[in-house]
Amino acid sequence: MPYPPRITDPEEIRRRIAARGRWWHEIELAPGVITPGDDSNRQKMPLLDELGLPARLHGVRALDIGCSDGYFTFELERRGAEVTAMDFVEATATGFATAAEILGSDAAYLVDIVYNLDPETHGRFDRVLFLGVLYHLRKPLAALDSIRSVMKPGAELYVATFLIDEHVVLPDGAVTTLEALNPALIDIPLWQAYPGASLNGDFTNCFAPNMRALQTALEEAELRVDSAISRPGGGFVRATAVRNDLAAKYRRLDGRIHDTPFDPEVPYYLDEDGAVHDLTGRRRRQ
Ligand SMILES: C[S@@+](CC[C@H](N)C(=O)[O-])C[C@H]1O[C@@H](n2cnc3c(N)ncnc32)[C@H](O)[C@@H]1O
Repeated sequence: MPYPPRITDPEEIRRRIAARGRWWHEIELAPGVITPGDDSNRQKMPLLDELGLPARLHGVRALDIGCSDGYFTFELERRGAEVTAMDFVEATATGFATAAEILGSDAAYLVDIVYNLDPETHGRFDRVLFLGVLYHLRKPLAALDSIRSVMKPGAELYVATFLIDEHVVLPDGAVTTLEALNPALIDIPLWQAYPGASLNGDFTNCFAPNMRALQTALEEAELRVDSAISRPGGGFVRATAVRNDLAAKYRRLDGRIHDTPFDPEVPYYLDEDGAVHDLTGRRRRQ
């Protein structure tokens, strides 16, 4: 638990906040002393509650992917969870280290990329937060597979992401909605790609889905969408780790190069029991 805090003197906390410089999150480090973050993180918390994030998380192992300054990590801890915070930058590159020290956080901090999540290394979690990261990724579906691999059966994933439903970027840079383009587009799973820095001038923005595509991507990763909230700035989804043998089978095929040497004699789509071999006339080797 990050409470009681390790540092309580408001002047000392203010000094440390200022020394840190730039903040992404607004975090209340002492009554009325709040880090000057640029983000609307404190408005996101009620949406996670609305999705069903429990107020008490005692006995729960939680993971906060792309934790940045750690607002959500510390909130999970405050609710009783044992938390692992993960980001591809060091805790001292953000406000995390400063805030964790002041709050007395016990969260484990992992410097790594989301694709490296692995049950053998990290174990499995009951609750996973994946907030504000998906649209930064070059391999969003691979990330969801990695996340799913560290979830216990029945574990819950909370995703928040920028969505294109209300924000399609046109070739001239103008912004419109899917509905304005064509109402039928809302129910078609779609992703928009952002060449260069074409989304908000930020080259780290790569691909964003519409809500329908987000749901499809989660289902592909063996996650059942239970609850979803759309907002003009994006979407919030709660999904549960379920078993889907067909999705798992295709994921194994799609990722086999990592697991098994490529066999040129076996076309990938024929390398399964019950496959239709007369497509090419090739036969499975005995
Ligand atoms: C927009 S911030 C979101 C921070 C926080 N989760 C929130 O919702 O307010 C994205 C964070 O994800 C981290 N990040 C981006 N790509 C990542 C990756 N491939 N693996 C791990 N972390 C990543 C960034 O360093 C950054 O801290």
